[in-house]
Amino acid sequence: MKKFLSLVLAIAMVMACACFAGCGSKSMTVEEGKLIMVTNAEFPPYEYKEGDSIVGIDAEVAALIAEKLGLELEIADVAFDSIIPGVQSGKYDMGMAGMTVSAERQKKVNFSDSYATGVQVVIVNEGSDIQTIDDLEGKKIGAQQGTTGYIYASKSPENGGYGEENVIGYDSGAVAVEALKGGKVDCVIIDNEPAKAYVKANPGLKILSTEFAVENYAICFAKDNTELQEKVNAALKELIDDGSVKKVIDKYITAE
Ligand code: ARG
Repeated sequence: MKKFLSLVLAIAMVMACACFAGCGSKSMTVEEGKLIMVTNAEFPPYEYKEGDSIVGIDAEVAALIAEKLGLELEIADVAFDSIIPGVQSGKYDMGMAGMTVSAERQKKVNFSDSYATGVQVVIVNEGSDIQTIDDLEGKKIGAQQGTTGYIYASKSPENGGYGEENVIGYDSGAVAVEALKGGKVDCVIIDNEPAKAYVKANPGLKILSTEFAVENYAICFAKDNTELQEKVNAALKELIDDGSVKKVIDKYITAE
């Protein structure tokens, strides 16, 4: 019995050491056969809810990646602001949310290769006196909290923004658009594809033809999880090369 116990103890110790050495570079969930992707499902057509399920470009591309890696995809839905902290802490394996690669974010997380591009645009009410982005000075601007649209707009005028005091952050693009319709803000700065989706769903709105900032979307990972980052990059490359990613994007974004 004593012998058996010490054997169990020895095995446990070996396992603990193995985990100790491996932990940090690998995630437990991936070892258990799961890939947990975190998003903010308030961003059509990249991610949005259809009944209880989360659909969209990111959800489908993530499913293809998981399939290639032989993992079962699980999607978590949180506030956009909580995605990077959740990935940093290892609670989630990767963040995929039409997320723009930026130098600021690169200090906190690593990014995959880019799989899509976005453009920041301005939505206004039809008949608005805002004709171009040069008319935004002194106006009230709405944006989704934590997004690049919010970040650009709230910079000081010397830095190309409109001043934090002029920007109101909302939980989602949809809520920002409601505020625009209700006259609480004069415009909304958001990525072009969700902008098109919101304008289509809400008569009386339009998108200005002047755009600012073309951005690259990529998947983010914890700094110490380069192993998953590399695997996902390899899968993503295959899916881009064989046209699978384009097929998913074309399913949701019809060229007009
Ligand atoms: N591309 C913008 C950014 O990275 C907006 C992304 C918002 N995504 C979302 N799922 N709500 O800041």
